Amino acid sequence: MRFPVSAVVAALPALAAAQENPLAQYQAQFQNFLGNMGSYIPNPGRHDPVAALEAKTGAMKMHTLTLDNWKDTLYEPVAKDATEPVEWWVLTTGRNKTCFGHCGRAEQAFNETAAKFALQPNAPHMGMLNCDDQPILCNVWSAGVGSIWDFEMLPEPAAINIYKKRLNLTTVTTDEIIALQGKKDEFTLLDSVFHPFDGKIAELGLSVPLAYVIWFFNLVPSWATMLVISFFSRTMMSRRMEGTYGARPRQ
Ligand SMILES: *[C@@H]1O[C@H](CO)[C@@H](O)[C@H](O)[C@H]1NC(C)=O
Ligand SMILES: *[C@@H]1O[C@H](CO)[C@@H](O)[C@H](O)[C@H]1NC(C)=O
Ligand SMILES: *[C@@H]1O[C@H](CO)[C@@H](O)[C@H](O)[C@H]1NC(C)=O
Repeated sequence: MRFPVSAVVAALPALAAAQENPLAQYQAQFQNFLGNMGSYIPNPGRHDPVAALEAKTGAMKMHTLTLDNWKDTLYEPVAKDATEPVEWWVLTTGRNKTCFGHCGRAEQAFNETAAKFALQPNAPHMGMLNCDDQPILCNVWSAGVGSIWDFEMLPEPAAINIYKKRLNLTTVTTDEIIALQGKKDEFTLLDSVFHPFDGKIAELGLSVPLAYVIWFFNLVPSWATMLVISFFSRTMMSRRMEGTYGARPRQ
């Protein structure tokens, strides 16, 4: 199997130039690049639109955030002339890959909270971001699993305050989450270059490309192994034919 290293190298200048280019152009380049890589790397995003629609229209009114819909989703309930922020709570969660199977308790508590909030007119809107399914979006936010992200949404282009609350995955309960409502002092104001709306990286339009790069390099160890094995077996094979090496490469 041949690995198109040249494709990776070719993509790097595109990244560097991304700052000057219109968004659409480098996004297309990236999509193209990823399309070419498609046979070598796993799909970076997974989304089940049917389940997501069920969750959204069901008793929990739970929104499922993806790389494509997160901004529209968060802005959706915000009136153009709103002066009071519209509050969203988003749980960052995962399954075995990003949360080692430890997020179930928090997720269930958050789901139960959502079912209660759905009956209260002024409760936060509720959303879920699964980092197993949406690794790129989690990189865009630089989000770890197991936290509630509290967004205070105002119409564009106002700055957006985001507060984070880390949950104790082994002890968290529904009542505990419900009790967080209105308790800003339990949360930490997000102040980071990765701030999804107002951070430096988002302002430069680099969040998504950078998220892909981070995700990409996270994959490297498993590929590198594959590459090295393939490289060595080929080198060894040709050396063996020359009679230099007798031993097979150990893996
Ligand atoms: C996740 O991990 C649990 C326990 O470690 C295991 O039982 C389960 O099969 C795993 N699920 C997947 C999808 O790998
Ligand atoms: C929470 O609700 C979501 C639907 O939004 C569902 O996919 C998930 O399995 C639920 N989690 C638990 C632990 O019940
Ligand atoms: C979660 O709570 C348990 C029990 O109170 C405690 O032992 C543990 O250290 C807590 N974990 C974190 C990450 O705070």
